[in-house]
Amino acid sequence: MQPPALQLRALRKRFGAVEAVAGVDLALRPGEFLTLLGPSGSGKTTILKLIAGFERPSAGAIELAGRDVSALSPADRGIGVVFQQYALFPHMSVRDNIAYPLKLRRRSPAERDRRVEEMLALVELSGYGARFPRELSGGQQQRVAVARALAFEPALLLMDEPLGALDRALRVGMQEEIRRIHRESGATILYVTHDQEEALTMSDRVAIMREGRLLQVGAPRELYRRPADRFVATFFGECTLVPATLLASPDAGHVRVAALGREATVRRGAPTLADDISLAVRPGKLRLRPTADDLPLPTTVVDVLYLGDSVRIVGWNPVAGEVLARADPDEAAAVAIGQELALGFAPADAVAVGGSR
Ligand SMILES: Nc1ncnc2c1ncn2[C@@H]1O[C@H](COP(=O)(O)OP(=O)(O)OP(=O)(O)O)[C@@H](O)[C@H]1O
Ligand SMILES: [Mg+2]
Repeated sequence: MQPPALQLRALRKRFGAVEAVAGVDLALRPGEFLTLLGPSGSGKTTILKLIAGFERPSAGAIELAGRDVSALSPADRGIGVVFQQYALFPHMSVRDNIAYPLKLRRRSPAERDRRVEEMLALVELSGYGARFPRELSGGQQQRVAVARALAFEPALLLMDEPLGALDRALRVGMQEEIRRIHRESGATILYVTHDQEEALTMSDRVAIMREGRLLQVGAPRELYRRPADRFVATFFGECTLVPATLLASPDAGHVRVAALGREATVRRGAPTLADDISLAVRPGKLRLRPTADDLPLPTTVVDVLYLGDSVRIVGWNPVAGEVLARADPDEAAAVAIGQELALGFAPADAVAVGGSR
């Protein structure tokens, strides 16, 4: 069996009193695209710096293809990196920036030239090779940084918000490019983004981070359907949280609960749940016309936002607090601020979660 492309074992990094990375275990399959998603300060960049060799771990191990690389210099790890703060070399042309990692690896001048042209075409900057970084826009500089990281076809590519400064159209285009490059190169990619939609569309798996820890790692659909706790439920997609009481655990995947004056069997997000639980319900699962079997969630409309394909309804329920619903624009045409709505949801569309928000 092939060893993982990247394995982190009990990885820790302390900066004085701050434990930026607080014991992280993670394995990436060769060719996998995994995204770290978490709030500002949760340790995402620190993990990437430890893997790249720009920071030393306080404890734990980092293995690439089964080999401990902790003692190697960044250049000897053979990892491609795109970091916002490790910018382009300002004194080098775009061409020389992209050729630099190839030069380090003693590729022939002919191969370097060929590869630089390929990479420039890939990031749609053909003809910009002679320019210097200061003569490019921020977005163009980022694309050069992506080209530079990919030039030597690294087995592992670390990308820290590589598309952060791009406008939306360019961003979507670059997302597609990165996915295509990922497919064609077979590189393993560890990606960091703030943008959960980006994480959702690009990744094989997403790892949700909070305060230096991984809360849950899984395929986007799995995280969305079975969030491990309240934080994951609200951070990876929106939801309404309805307080509930745990009555019984009939099987590994379900719990029996009391909520909103009824009893129901719902999915559970984690194998063990404390007594203090909520039912998480996605906005699209709240119905304007509930059935008799639905759990009733009477809601006062606080705000209505027309989004084109759908209408976003923000409301208030005395038990659940904030209610977030999404409805079809035709169905919700008459919904107005201040109105009382008899919303409801099917038990099959709720998932029981514990933990803090
Ligand atoms: N060199 C450093 N010295 C001291 N503290 C640091 C250092 N680098 C990071 N930290 C702290 O470690 C924690 C994690 O920082 P990190 O940059 O990894 O977060 P992040 O998840 O990348 O956040 P963001 O989304 O804002 O980029 C933060 O509390 C940060 O202040
Ligand atoms: Mg960061």
